[in-house]
Amino acid sequence: MNNVLITGGAGFIGSNFVRYFLSIEPGIQIVNLDALTYAGNLENLKDLPDPGRYAFEEGDICDSSLVHRLIQQYQIDTVVHFAAESHVDRSILGPSQFIQTNIIGTFTLLEAVKQYWVDEKAFSLEHVRFHHISTDEVYGSLEPNAPPFSEITPYAPNSPYAASKASSDHIVRAYGHTYGLPISITNCSNNYGPYQFPEKLIPLVVLNALTGQPLPIYGDGKQIRDWLYVEDHCEAIWRVIRDGIPGETYNIGGDTQPSNIEIVELICSILDERLPDSPHFPHKSLIRHVADRPGHDRRYAIDNTKISRELGWQPRESLHSALRKTVDWYLANTEWVNAISNQKNHQSWLQGNYQERGG
Ligand code: NAD
Ligand code: TYD
Repeated sequence: MNNVLITGGAGFIGSNFVRYFLSIEPGIQIVNLDALTYAGNLENLKDLPDPGRYAFEEGDICDSSLVHRLIQQYQIDTVVHFAAESHVDRSILGPSQFIQTNIIGTFTLLEAVKQYWVDEKAFSLEHVRFHHISTDEVYGSLEPNAPPFSEITPYAPNSPYAASKASSDHIVRAYGHTYGLPISITNCSNNYGPYQFPEKLIPLVVLNALTGQPLPIYGDGKQIRDWLYVEDHCEAIWRVIRDGIPGETYNIGGDTQPSNIEIVELICSILDERLPDSPHFPHKSLIRHVADRPGHDRRYAIDNTKISRELGWQPRESLHSALRKTVDWYLANTEWVNAISNQKNHQSWLQGNYQERGG
């Protein structure tokens, strides 16, 4: 691993990974290719540990000539592919960009590395890796007593987002199988932590609670997600890239599965503790049930056995401690929060999505 192309490195998980990777791998050079959509933010990459080993390129992963040029110019031997449209609710209201970025974008990257690594033989294939970041949502929804998702659970994606990620996983796998491209895939559960865009449940609830706005719970709030702290996720990805077997898939979960209502109540109690004089105390009083998400998956849960047995990874954080760290991060980073909260695109998203639900 010398020259690493990270796609989507200005987003939530990608920016956490750039920071983590620079600190844990002192020999690598990183190029971050990001289109800076509404979800991409260069402020997420301030204060990098060793900025001399990092370069930013603004552009679209669907732009084939740009991708080919960057891979050759920077002599890329490792790709860590995060770039995607990532929000389920947006995929329900407008799936087209999800098909474009998540499927065509992944295909475009694969074509470029195949040409450079396989056709032009730029490196020995033992020394390259295309790592694809995917989601547990490709497996669909679990019944209450069903065992958690493992790497052999059949795919059954339910939302346009999940279907686009499932499609990209299949294409990545096929490039490994057919062309011998050294690929790996990780399917992780719901992440949380610093720099998450406040359209997702946890940061949305924190920021709404701070300004006394309703905390919208879709349906009965008894849906279950498996919450993974982003730094634990970064460590897992690093282990897979370094020691994971080419061609393999690894599931990554946080081993903690509260219902949505439980997690929102936990955030409210942390805020009550931190801000006892707030006019919105107790923050729980802001909770409102609103119209459910169409086709809402009821339950996700991840079986970490494979990554834990083969690569010695398990989550370090507990939900209670990492959620406290996360809430504290949003409380401390008011400039970041204000800049995002005032973003026009975000404001119109909030109005459109929540007015329609009666929130
Ligand atoms: P995010 O929405 O915060 O960031 C996505 C980044 O990709 C942004 O910086 C955006 O500008 C960039 N991007 C979007 N389209 C692009 C394009 N066409 N070309 C180049 N860059 C583009 O997403 P995230 O939450 O950081 O998720 C990262 C990856 O992890 C995604 O592949 C997502 O499917 C996967 N994932 C996320 C979660 C989660 O809980 N956030 C869970 C499972 C899997
Ligand atoms: P989200 O953070 O959008 O992640 P995903 O849909 O990828 O799991 O949502 C997490 C859960 O919270 C999901 O069950 C939907 C629910 N949810 C709400 O109840 N209210 C909200 O305002 C949002 C954004 C999500």
